[in-house]
Amino acid sequence: MGKRSFIKIILSLITVLLSGLLSWAVAKFAAFSGDKAPSKFIPKSAIDQLQAGAPFYYVQAGVWLVREDEKSDVAVYDDKCPHLGCRYNWNSEKKVFECPCHNSAFDIKGQVKKGPANRPITSFRLSLDEKNVYRILPSAK
Ligand code: FES
Repeated sequence: MGKRSFIKIILSLITVLLSGLLSWAVAKFAAFSGDKAPSKFIPKSAIDQLQAGAPFYYVQAGVWLVREDEKSDVAVYDDKCPHLGCRYNWNSEKKVFECPCHNSAFDIKGQVKKGPANRPITSFRLSLDEKNVYRILPSAK
């Protein structure tokens, strides 16, 4: 193999490598939606079985599903504390969401009852599609 052939092969390999890298970067950029809502789905049966006053952690989507009372719509809360992002839990005795990291507490509507968190839990909205599956969308503001 001559010196020219060797250089051509090296340049071809570099070209293939760079085009692959560029394709990956374009695909990553196109997939970035910019919103914080998880791109997950919830079967209608999970929503239908939700009991009033008993928030349910839907782990597959990383959200809490909450029906405050029999008449209210289902609320969907991000499972990360708005303080510094720890995963909080529902305390069924106290009827509050509690964060184990710095002891913030939130009522069933996601409002701050006790800091250091200074803003409500992030909520999302649901959209039922033609396949009877709820899609989690960013909250309309
Ligand atoms: S992360 Fe929840 S209180 Fe700090």
